[in-house]
Amino acid sequence: MNADTKPWVLVTGGAGYIGAHTCVALLEAGYPVLVFDSLVNGSTEALARASTLGGGEIAFVQGDVRDRAALDALFARYPVSAVLHLAGVKAVGESVARPLYYHEVNVAGTLTLAQAMHAADVRTLVFSSSATVYGAPARMPIDESAPLAPNNPYGRSKRMAEDLLRDHCAAHPEWRLAILRYFNPVGAHPSGQLGEDPLGTPDNLMPFVSQVAIGRRPELAVFGNDYPTPDGTGVRDYLHVCDLARGHLAALHALPAAGGELTVNLGTGRGHSVLDVVRAFETASGQTVPLRFAPRRPGDIAACWADPSRAEQLLGWRAECDLDAMCRDVWRWQRGNPEGYR
Ligand SMILES: NC(=O)c1ccc[n+]([C@@H]2O[C@H](COP(=O)([O-])OP(=O)(O)OC[C@H]3O[C@@H](n4cnc5c(N)ncnc54)[C@H](O)[C@@H]3O)[C@@H](O)[C@H]2O)c1
Repeated sequence: MNADTKPWVLVTGGAGYIGAHTCVALLEAGYPVLVFDSLVNGSTEALARASTLGGGEIAFVQGDVRDRAALDALFARYPVSAVLHLAGVKAVGESVARPLYYHEVNVAGTLTLAQAMHAADVRTLVFSSSATVYGAPARMPIDESAPLAPNNPYGRSKRMAEDLLRDHCAAHPEWRLAILRYFNPVGAHPSGQLGEDPLGTPDNLMPFVSQVAIGRRPELAVFGNDYPTPDGTGVRDYLHVCDLARGHLAALHALPAAGGELTVNLGTGRGHSVLDVVRAFETASGQTVPLRFAPRRPGDIAACWADPSRAEQLLGWRAECDLDAMCRDVWRWQRGNPEGYR
């Protein structure tokens, strides 16, 4: 299809880590891409690079998803066929300190967006949710029928946003809603041009490990080595961000036929411990990553990995990249951009 004849796909939060990679995947598939982002944690440089990598232009409007008037103006100006809603705040620790901010952006922001979409007759939405909605489930792997019991304000904000969208979708059968529960996105674009660029101290393991490897930080603190896991450190389902980006595309393609709402895990189905990640990163980078063991962090769980079979069944999607590829790509990004996009 010719890009000129297709209406826009709107990516909220498109200037962020996952959003920029998703913009590349959309452009490569021929979609005209429109990004709406407040830039509170995003970068126009990421958008410029995504545009070059994807081989197409990205229209950009700076704004906040809590701002109904800005969203109304956006929908009035651009014909939009579907929205990928990635804008949000995502740090578990910060959400404990600033719960109202998290609920305002993640819950009220999602509500405002859904209202603006409904008013503008835009009926297709792909929503970024998170495995944190499951809390600390009793059984692994986690499938989508596991009880939702988030144990921090961030996870609760995602569950509330899911609930309000599902309720709206149930009341309006013409809506198409895909809720994507991401496990642990890591990695970078294989070109080394796009990657995760955390402000301040990274909250997540992989960017921390790569900053230690490049010498920006002296050592990695491993929180807990007495968990009931094979080596005592926490186990997570790490997923390459380019696989995740493809997942959004797969959801977009599946929605018209799916009807109503679908909720899927996006993960690899494999768990890796903190020490597995450190070893893989050392191999990929040729650097040593000094570490020390520290006490467990409150709220952390021992292990968490996905049953991704529903995503394969409903979206025809499965993750392709392994941990070595994730580490290689992070290292290429880190080496080429030691200060991120700055
Ligand atoms: N990275 C992860 O580990 C992870 C895991 C599960 C789910 N998610 C979800 O995926 C989405 C994207 O995450 P990411 O890792 O790319 O984060 P990110 O911070 O890199 O990107 C989020 C983007 O949203 C923008 N934004 C924030 N608040 C906004 C607002 N009020 N209005 C408009 N734009 C706003 C930021 O400027 C940023 O560009 C988030 O919704 C996050 O909760 C992320």
